[in-house]
Amino acid sequence: MSTKNTLPKHVAIIMDGNGRWAKLRGKERYEGHIQGVESVRRVVRAAADAGVEYLTLYAFSTENWGRPAEEVEALMTLFCSCVINETPELIEQGVKVSIIGSRARFSEEVNARLNEIEQRTAEGKVLNLILALDYSSRSEITEALRHIATKVAAGEVKAEEITESLVSDNLYTAHIPDPDLVIRTSGECRLSNFLLWQASYAEFYFPQTLWPDFTEEEFAKALEVYASRERRYGMV
Ligand code: FPP
Repeated sequence: MSTKNTLPKHVAIIMDGNGRWAKLRGKERYEGHIQGVESVRRVVRAAADAGVEYLTLYAFSTENWGRPAEEVEALMTLFCSCVINETPELIEQGVKVSIIGSRARFSEEVNARLNEIEQRTAEGKVLNLILALDYSSRSEITEALRHIATKVAAGEVKAEEITESLVSDNLYTAHIPDPDLVIRTSGECRLSNFLLWQASYAEFYFPQTLWPDFTEEEFAKALEVYASRERRYGMV
């Protein structure tokens, strides 16, 4: 059995290439991130217009804490200013924002802003925008296993009752369908600790374009490439 694709219900994007975009123009890396916000705006609008229901953006990996302090600081400032500047437009567009990731290392201010955007956009019905922040897929799976093991030790779950769906239900993405299409910009062909469990049957698309140059047209092209693929889920 195979299925011909039409529109992906869930698109997940690794937004890569901000630093290179800036370097090519003799700018500081953070300026690439600022320009990257324009692409976020374009892609959110394009996804909503196309009828995509879930859009996940990898905005800050747990490994990104290892970047120079000034770049991390610039990203935190950018996330806070995005909440302030973008929330009204997102509400108007019917976008519901949710955050996945640990969030343990964010400052009180960043966490307050992230809570604010989740609460203020909670009624959005057009597009679910999921921001992966301080996200690491291995940590997510490890945390889920720890949670399940605690239940087994307490006698609430039997070992033989551990199923794939129980594992899925203990991930950050419990209420989110698996991604159908994963895009990574900038020509890199790696998953980099992103949705390792959830992307098991996803289609992958790796355009050369750097994230700040990623346009609505490129997003439409990704949807076209997806529509041309055949998904067999291990069957024939
Ligand atoms: C990867 O490019 C990009 C990031 C680590 C940050 C992504 C953040 C944004 C696009 C800005 C705001 C996002 C939201 C959701 C408000 P890189 O710096 O690794 O690029 P390089 O590989 O060229 O160095």
